[in-house]
Amino acid sequence: MDSYLTVVSGENLSLSQAELESLVKMVDSSARVKWRGTIGIVDASRDPCDIILRRAVLVKECGRIVADGQTIDDSLRVEPEDVVSSNETFCVRCLAPSDYEQKKRMETDAGARVEKWTGARVSLKSPDVRLVLFKLEDRTVLCKSVVSDARLRAIARGSRRKPFFHPSMMNAPLAGVLCNLAQITSNDVVLDPFCGGGGIVCEAAIIGATTVGIDLNWKLVQGAVSNLEQFGGNNSCVVLGDARSLPIDHFDCVVSDPPYGRVSSTRGAQSVDLVRSMLNQAVEMASSGARFCICGAREMNVSQVMNELGLDVVRSVSIRVHRSLTRDIVVARH
Ligand SMILES: C[S@@+](CC[C@H](N)C(=O)[O-])C[C@H]1O[C@@H](n2cnc3c(N)ncnc32)[C@H](O)[C@@H]1O
Repeated sequence: MDSYLTVVSGENLSLSQAELESLVKMVDSSARVKWRGTIGIVDASRDPCDIILRRAVLVKECGRIVADGQTIDDSLRVEPEDVVSSNETFCVRCLAPSDYEQKKRMETDAGARVEKWTGARVSLKSPDVRLVLFKLEDRTVLCKSVVSDARLRAIARGSRRKPFFHPSMMNAPLAGVLCNLAQITSNDVVLDPFCGGGGIVCEAAIIGATTVGIDLNWKLVQGAVSNLEQFGGNNSCVVLGDARSLPIDHFDCVVSDPPYGRVSSTRGAQSVDLVRSMLNQAVEMASSGARFCICGAREMNVSQVMNELGLDVVRSVSIRVHRSLTRDIVVARH
């Protein structure tokens, strides 16, 4: 079992933690994460850093813990050359404590020790290796960390940068988080029965999943098709149809952002009735073990609907959008 350190965004801490935990469990279902605010220490038997750095929108950096003990040099866990080789440069950044002077002292002290272990040189401007030092009450950990660009990549895929834009589209970072909460893999068939301009299906297609989108609005169906073309959605289709009458079965995931009747139309139906009716069929038609991730307005009480339909709700995270709109993201299993 190895340990890894991750730093997540504190903007919506519960959502960041949920995203990280969902991705880590895809690599090792028995992995454990201990949280200190935005800092998570992951114990896992397989390295989760690759999937985290590729996909986790809300993770700032992560890496393997290379030293862990009462002081940093009393328990180096790996060979010094696995930390940094003698011809590389490195920097040390301390995440805690908050006192600036103490932090600087710890960084300088750790830098000197790493120089002694490895023969490598310090470079604060453009280091080859970034080492992160984190002090807990009884131990200090040193991590070989990589700063993530997943959020920047998701922002670059923003709704307004897509060939087709509509204000009801889910922005790419949040759509990416939903796909991660649903633990989508490239082997999955993913359904968004209220796909609009395709914010969610584009993110699922980028992961490599086969995607099926459904929407009542022909203009949005065409828009989703052109957006998917930009992201190489070769295994994607978008259908003009009604989510209450699903045209496919044997899907592995339903990820969706149903209309609340504010920016996107429900065509006179009650939002909660639309979701109930869609889920009622989806539960019958999905593959066994299918995952569901639905983002609904709080008053829709998606968790309760899922429970009533016999789904096993595994997570519910709230996002406050503004005074009169809080969204609940609910994840459930078949
Ligand atoms: C909030 S938007 C979806 C955003 C989209 N999931 C995304 O990722 O960009 C809700 C969509 O549901 C569609 N819709 C409303 N009633 C529907 C129904 N009965 N069946 C299918 N789509 C419906 C609307 O046309 C609208 O495009």
